[in-house]
Amino acid sequence: MTDEPIVLGIETSCDETGVGIVRGTTLLANVVASSVDEHARFGGVVPEVASRAHLEAMVPTVERALRTAGLTLADIDAIAVTAGPGLAGTLLVGVAAAKAYALATGKPLYGVNHLAAHVAVDTLEHGPLPEPAVALLVSGGHSSLLRVDDLARGVQPLGATIDDAAGEAFDKVARLLGLPFPGGPPIDRAAQSGDGSAIAFPRGLTAPRDMREHRFDFSFSGLKTAVARWVEARQRAGEPVPVADVAASFQEAVCDVLTAKAIDACRSQGIETLLIGGGVAANSRLRAMATERAARYGIQVRVPRPGLCTDNGAMVAALGTHLVSSGVPPSGLDIPADSALPVEVVSLAEKVA
Ligand code: KG4
Ligand code: ZN
Repeated sequence: MTDEPIVLGIETSCDETGVGIVRGTTLLANVVASSVDEHARFGGVVPEVASRAHLEAMVPTVERALRTAGLTLADIDAIAVTAGPGLAGTLLVGVAAAKAYALATGKPLYGVNHLAAHVAVDTLEHGPLPEPAVALLVSGGHSSLLRVDDLARGVQPLGATIDDAAGEAFDKVARLLGLPFPGGPPIDRAAQSGDGSAIAFPRGLTAPRDMREHRFDFSFSGLKTAVARWVEARQRAGEPVPVADVAASFQEAVCDVLTAKAIDACRSQGIETLLIGGGVAANSRLRAMATERAARYGIQVRVPRPGLCTDNGAMVAALGTHLVSSGVPPSGLDIPADSALPVEVVSLAEKVA
C-alpha cells in the first residue's frame, strides 16, 4: 500500500458519462458510456437527451469502474467531479451523483474545471507536467491557449476562439460533406487519401492586423463558411465534390493555425513544453504537425493517447489526485454546477459561510 491518493472522477459535461479511478498518476480504471449515437441524427448533442442518458448510465458506470480497478468505494480517498464548464443540465447529473457518493462515503469532494482536467490527464501517460507549460485545448466546446504555472492552483488564459470551437468546425464541415457526427474522426480518415494543399482555405486571425489584437485567439467560422461556399459552387456546377481533398485542405487549415499559434505562444513566453488536449488532439495531422514544427524550436510536445483526449472520467480523477497531493482543500458539498466556469478556476473553493 502506498500513500498516493486514490480518486474516483466523474465527468458529465457533454455526452460522455465518464468514470475514472486514479492512484497518484496511475490509471486504475477508465469507463466511458457515450450517448453519441442518440445525437447523431440531430448533428449535435441534444442536452435533454444527454442528461437522461447520464442518469441511466451513472451508477452502472461507477460500478464497472470499481470492478475494473478491483476496489470498493471504501478504498477511495476522494471524489472529483467536473463542475463546469459544460452543459448545465448534464453537469448537474454528475455533480449531484458525486455529492451523493461523497456524502454516503464521508469522503471529500472536489468540484473541478473540465479544461484543467484535459491538461491533467497527460500525467497518466507522461508523468508530472513540467511547469510552466503552454496548453492548447481543442474540443467540441473549447479552443484555448493557456499558460500553466501551477495546475493545482490556477491557469492563465492567453487566447481562445472568438467564434466556433475547433471541434465544432470539424463537426459542421463533416455535415457539409455528408460525413457522420461527430465529424473529427471521419474527416481525419477521409483526409488520409486527400491532398491538404488542393484548396487554399483561409487561416483565421493570422493576418498582421489581426495578430496585433488577437495574436493567440482563434476564429474558425470564416473557414467553415469558405468550405461551405466552395462545396456549394461545385454542386451548383453539377460537379462531384472531392471529399478527401476538401477534408484534407480543411484539416490542414485548422492544424496550421492551431500549431502556429501554440508554438508562437511557447516562444513568446520562453516555454519549452507544449501540451495538447481535448477531443481534437486525437487528430492525426495535428499531432504530427505539432511535433514536427515544435522540434524546430526545441519545444517538446506532449499529447495523451487519443482515448484520453476525448472526454473521460480518468482526466477528472487525474486532476483530483493532483489537487489532493498538492494540499488543495476540498470543495464542500454545497458546490454548484457552473456551465460558464472560468478557465482560471481549477477547482471550486469551499464556501465560507
Ligand atoms: O473533448 P471532447 O470529447 O468533448 C468536448 O469537450 O467537446 O471533444 C469532442 C470533439 C468533437 O467535436 C469531435 O469532432 C472532435 O473532438 N474530435 C476530433 C477527432 N476526434 C474527436 N477532431 C478532429 N480529429 C479527430 N480525430
Ligand atoms: Zn472536453
